Amino acid sequence: MAFGLSDRIKAIAPSPTLAIDAKTKELVAQGVDIINLSVGEPDFGTPEPAAQAAIEAIKQGFTKYTAVPGINDLRKAIAKKLKDENGLDYEMDDIIVSNGAKHSLYNAFMAILNPGDEVILPAPYWVSYPEMIRLAEGEPVVIATDESTGFKITPEMLKQAITPKTKALLLNSPSNPTGAVYSPEDLKALAEVMEQHEFYVISDEIYEKMVYGVEQMSIASVSEAMKKRTILVNGFSKAFAMTGWRVGYIAADRAIVKAMTSFQSQTTSNPASISQKAALKALDAFDPNVIEAFRKRLDYVMKRLEEMPLIKCIRPQGAFYVFPNVADIIGKSYKGTKIDSANTFATLLLEKANIALVPGEGFGAPNNIRISYAVSDENLAKAMDRLEGFLKEVE
Ligand SMILES: Cc1ncc(COP(=O)(O)O)c(C=O)c1O
Repeated sequence: MAFGLSDRIKAIAPSPTLAIDAKTKELVAQGVDIINLSVGEPDFGTPEPAAQAAIEAIKQGFTKYTAVPGINDLRKAIAKKLKDENGLDYEMDDIIVSNGAKHSLYNAFMAILNPGDEVILPAPYWVSYPEMIRLAEGEPVVIATDESTGFKITPEMLKQAITPKTKALLLNSPSNPTGAVYSPEDLKALAEVMEQHEFYVISDEIYEKMVYGVEQMSIASVSEAMKKRTILVNGFSKAFAMTGWRVGYIAADRAIVKAMTSFQSQTTSNPASISQKAALKALDAFDPNVIEAFRKRLDYVMKRLEEMPLIKCIRPQGAFYVFPNVADIIGKSYKGTKIDSANTFATLLLEKANIALVPGEGFGAPNNIRISYAVSDENLAKAMDRLEGFLKEVE
């Protein structure tokens, strides 16, 4: 029985990454040997000390509601992390822990956006940003970027996108899906433009640990004035392979944290008590070997892609994705079937070559595809063989 759904819900598109994932799982359940390069999570396990802390928490009955913005110990430990690793001074009360960085981001949009407020969103963007902005009745103002600027916005592009309605800029560095990393110089140049105006910067730093040979810096570190306007988002999903535990956080001006805490208190309450205990221990259990493993896979994927026809790919500097340009494939055919979009290309790859990856449309980049290399070396090699074999049939 359907008495109608809200206009708000009808206006949002379901996550295309999850759609590919669902189709992949369906084929796998049918016994098809699919190699899944669409995943946005590391293929290694939760750090052992974090898992043990969670078991202890359950055994000791730490299974009740906690304070809404998270337990004091965790918020203090996050403040210490931000000081030690990022050189940023925050206190416990400047931090709110939520059910994953996705939840943190949604809370932030709900806390700062009025209907019609604009959020400047560089494309290619993570699929959930525009939908979350719209859910909070804001307007995403997309700045298109491509390989020519390394998928980064320039100060000039930012200048042109600013209007009296601009409420925030969303920066995601390292980026999902492009792997672009803004250098300290890039950030300083963007900050100079921002300082002429009054709006927030939401800085999604969830891939901060995954950088390969370049420096990662938070825009909050540029100056005290930038720190004041930065809503810094981070979490445990990527760096600690804890996607299922659902722990993310925001560090920001205390008034914003207070507003988000109030919103969280009336919607979801605290993040899971057990996950919070695990996250607390994870902070001291980061494994740098993981980054080295990712870097080797990145080298491998780049080498393989360079040898393939029709595909062009600039080398990403961070995260665990490559974002090849497939414009030269669009318009060609595979065994009589016209490849009319990145979406059709990805569907054919899934059905005919049994590789799952994500087409660029959902990221605002219809000429690209996203390949996650957070899979085993063996599967990565097999997937590259399959992709190469498929491309040989494209004409
Ligand atoms: C750029 C970016 N931000 C935030 C998230 C959300 O992560 P989580 O909610 O698991 O902490 C993701 C997950 O894919 C992401 O890619």
